[in-house]
Amino acid sequence: MIVQQRVVFVLLGLWSSVFKVNGNKSKVKGGQGQFPTTQNVTVVEGGTANMTCRVEYNDNTSLQWSNPAQQTLFFGDKKALRDNRIELIRASWQELTISVSDVTLGDEGLYTCSLFTMPIKITKAYLTVLGVPERPEIIGFTKPAMEGDLITLTCTSAGSKPAATIRWFRNDKEVQGTKEVNATGKSFTVRSSLQFEVDRRDDGVAYTCSVEHQALDKPYLTTEVLQVHYAPHLEITHSLIIPQEGQYLKLECVSIGNPIPEPVLWSKDGGELPDVERMIVEGRELTITTLNKTDNGTYRCEASNHLGTSRAEYVLFVYDPNALGQVGPDHALVGGVVAVVVFITLCLTIVLGRYLARHKGTYLTHEAKGADDAPDADTAIINAEGNHVHAEEKKEYFI
Ligand SMILES: *[C@@H]1O[C@H](CO)[C@@H](O)[C@H](O)[C@H]1NC(C)=O
Ligand SMILES: *[C@@H]1O[C@H](CO)[C@@H](O)[C@H](O)[C@H]1NC(C)=O
Ligand SMILES: *[C@@H]1O[C@H](CO)[C@@H](O)[C@H](O)[C@H]1NC(C)=O
Ligand SMILES: *[C@@H]1O[C@H](CO)[C@@H](O)[C@H](O)[C@H]1NC(C)=O
Ligand SMILES: *[C@@H]1O[C@H](CO)[C@@H](O)[C@H](O)[C@H]1NC(C)=O
Ligand SMILES: *[C@@H]1O[C@H](CO)[C@@H](O)[C@H](O)[C@H]1NC(C)=O
Ligand SMILES: *[C@@H]1O[C@H](CO)[C@@H](O)[C@H](O)[C@H]1NC(C)=O
Repeated sequence: MIVQQRVVFVLLGLWSSVFKVNGNKSKVKGGQGQFPTTQNVTVVEGGTANMTCRVEYNDNTSLQWSNPAQQTLFFGDKKALRDNRIELIRASWQELTISVSDVTLGDEGLYTCSLFTMPIKITKAYLTVLGVPERPEIIGFTKPAMEGDLITLTCTSAGSKPAATIRWFRNDKEVQGTKEVNATGKSFTVRSSLQFEVDRRDDGVAYTCSVEHQALDKPYLTTEVLQVHYAPHLEITHSLIIPQEGQYLKLECVSIGNPIPEPVLWSKDGGELPDVERMIVEGRELTITTLNKTDNGTYRCEASNHLGTSRAEYVLFVYDPNALGQVGPDHALVGGVVAVVVFITLCLTIVLGRYLARHKGTYLTHEAKGADDAPDADTAIINAEGNHVHAEEKKEYFI
């Protein structure tokens, strides 16, 4: 019983202390001590900002909103400043909410909510306005660039607040540029430059400038595809390693260069190509349909663009198929090939020989039993029966 009584007392004590605190609290709230509550607001330029001011306990005292310039915007539900962008959303003893639409960077600042008690209680809320960056522009590239030119790509974006982040990508790989930020009025102009000497590997490469900012869902991208001009480079590829008389040979003049060097001119030994039907020129290809010893010589292709001329040569030596293996250092290769072929053939012969011998042995065992003793096939078959021992000996011999 004593224990229970104690519990009841403790509970009562707890209850009364809770009640006291509550009483205190409500007394403070209900009295002169309470400040209105507000929240800082962030809005993107051009958007709408709602500014809310609340007071929990209010004995019919008016609330007021004023702007950073201390001008009263609303006093209770009464509009005080002529500005169409500012409207009343809700006005009660507990709340005063107004909206500022079409927000500009100039609207940023500390707004004040006042509760007209004695003395006046004020709370401030900061309105942050984000400046949206403009789409970036890339300048400094005069199309097309010459190989070896030093170029500077500059990307600029104005209007951001706070200053936007600017990045460069060469194709998809990030590259570092210089950075510069200037304040222009209330917003910032960001600029980044890339300087480099272009070479042919930059031809067709996309340089992208990316502007990132909290007011953007995804970055603004601007891309410039480089065009780099460079002198031609030619090479001749050929369809035969060891051209022989009577064969078909195709030479191709492979050219790189920008602009693409054209046309391709073919010549032989410094003069025109012989006027024979066997030789056909089709653009970059020269075809000799039936090689002849008389086709010997140096073939050249030549092509130009406005940055220069390039040439490539091919020395044709038409081998006599009958004389192959006797002539020249080039024949070392032929010799090597022949040696390898001979070696492989030899190996195959040995392997095949053993394999065939096995089968030949079996074959003899079953079909040619007694063939050695028989003058013809018929006799051999007749003799076959009961001649196993003899055949067995043969099999062993062949293996
Ligand atoms: C709460 O009330 C008690 C008396 O009931 C008083 O002594 C105390 O100062 C009050 N506290 C506050 C914060 O007003
Ligand atoms: C501002 O308040 C109005 C009315 O409550 C609401 O419709 C609107 O979405 C609010 N705007 C913002 C930006 O919170
Ligand atoms: C507050 O205003 C209401 C009407 O809006 C009125 O009925 C009430 O008496 C007022 N209270 C005080 C404390 O002035
Ligand atoms: C509101 O913004 C002001 C100024 O930026 C800052 O000092 C304050 O701490 C902010 N208050 C809240 C509740 O975020
Ligand atoms: C920043 O200001 C300097 C000095 O006025 C000027 O030379 C430069 O071009 C400006 N840069 C940008 C990004 O506006
Ligand atoms: C090579 O050309 C000569 C003269 O044009 C001709 O007599 C000869 O038959 C040709 N040889 C072959 C393999 O076509
Ligand atoms: C072909 O070229 C080889 C080597 O340059 C030369 O020895 C040979 O006489 C030439 N034959 C003809 C028909 O021009």
